Amino acid sequence: MSRVGIFGAGWVGLVTGVCFAELGHDVVIRDVVPEKIEALRAGRVPFVEDDVPELLEKNRERLTFTLDVRDVAASDFLFICVDTPPTHSGDADLSRVWTVVDELPELEGRSVLVMKSTVPVGTGEKVRAGLNDRGLGQLGYVSNPEFLAEGNAVRDFMQPDRVVIGAFEADDAGQVASLYEPLEAPIVRCDVNSAEMIKLAANAFLMTRISFINEIANVCEATGADVVKVAEGVGLDHRLGPHFLRAGIGYGGSCFPKDSLALKQLASNSGYHFQLLSAVIEVNELQKRRVIGKLKRHLGQQLAGKTVTLLGLAFKPQTDDMREAPSIVLAARLLAEGADVRAWDPVADGEKLPKGVEIFGSVAEAVRGAHAAVIVTEWPELRGLASPETRAAMANPLIVDGRNLLDPEEARRAGFAYEGIGRRVRETDVLPETPEPSVERAV
Ligand SMILES: NC(=O)c1ccc[n+]([C@@H]2O[C@H](COP(=O)([O-])OP(=O)(O)OC[C@H]3O[C@@H](n4cnc5c(N)ncnc54)[C@H](O)[C@@H]3O)[C@@H](O)[C@H]2O)c1
Repeated sequence: MSRVGIFGAGWVGLVTGVCFAELGHDVVIRDVVPEKIEALRAGRVPFVEDDVPELLEKNRERLTFTLDVRDVAASDFLFICVDTPPTHSGDADLSRVWTVVDELPELEGRSVLVMKSTVPVGTGEKVRAGLNDRGLGQLGYVSNPEFLAEGNAVRDFMQPDRVVIGAFEADDAGQVASLYEPLEAPIVRCDVNSAEMIKLAANAFLMTRISFINEIANVCEATGADVVKVAEGVGLDHRLGPHFLRAGIGYGGSCFPKDSLALKQLASNSGYHFQLLSAVIEVNELQKRRVIGKLKRHLGQQLAGKTVTLLGLAFKPQTDDMREAPSIVLAARLLAEGADVRAWDPVADGEKLPKGVEIFGSVAEAVRGAHAAVIVTEWPELRGLASPETRAAMANPLIVDGRNLLDPEEARRAGFAYEGIGRRVRETDVLPETPEPSVERAV
């Protein structure tokens, strides 16, 4: 069994840590935020992610949490799992990665530094040179990008579709591959630059599928087709597959938005205009705002004085992560329109929304007296939203289903005006008291 040191106790670092501990390795996780380390030492996971608390509890004797960088000195592997957020220019901010490289302690044996953070192509070569400059030429370097999805992170780690290992030296690649052997996953071995690009390209492709189906949804609305059926029919084609073909109000999260910007910027820094990716990003931004048009179609051009409830704030269900969540953009747009904005989420922190949004602890309270309820995140709790109780409680029974969670016919039968994304729009859905239809209607 090996000794694994990890920099960063966030989603990637902690999941990597508890999973390697579950595989029998001794793991030391180092972070720079004292509250995180204290919480973890006390057995508390500082974010919501299925299975992590159980694995933490089960493998306590193999897991150490520390603020002191010297505690990782005896590791055979050093995983970098720090955040790489976007800078104002859209480039990835690698300052935390460089801090780790600068802070590496005197190592006791021959270790391999493994980059799990998502970084621009060329980073590994720069880090390799930086390590050599620091006199750490004996330290191996491997790019091993992470593909886990929040909400499913432990399963994604333990049953990966593939493990990508990019290395300068075959020996280093072999050592990292041996760590993953028990997972019996296909291993893609390549050079460091290609490993870095695999991560960026995979994310860009997933985002492209989302923006593609969202544009198809918008055309469905204009032409009377139903995107849910269209996606089913398209996705059964074995050449295409069903994944990432769910129309909605756009992607968010800590990865897609920043990684798409970083790849676009990487291309542009190298003199190439990545046209398709630019369109994917723009479509996603517009998609979030289409909810406003849908609300106006029912409530009139003036949203001032209307109460709109946002249901679900996290960028997706089964996580409390609100980074780049569409709920933030929607809340800001609605406040700018003068609407009274309310919000509910079972776990995400509503304080991360712009000031002026009223946060509620239950769906029932949040929709009482509202003119519209918008499903922003497809939490299972919202499946029963179109109930007689909700209808009676709302000032105006309008549901805008930004995730196509509900059955439109059931919602209509329950007496709601219902608007999904890319679903057939019914003239009868527009409530009689609607003052004026918006331009959106003609789109
Ligand atoms: N979250 C995901 O779903 C996901 C999936 C795949 C890849 N990634 C990539 O993995 C990386 C980490 O993502 P995340 O979501 O885990 O980030 P995160 O923000 O949740 O966690 C990063 C952690 O690193 C810590 N940190 C910063 N500087 C440090 C240092 N010098 N030493 C030790 N710890 C330090 C931070 O305090 C934080 O706890 C990013 O590059 C991200 O793009 C994320």
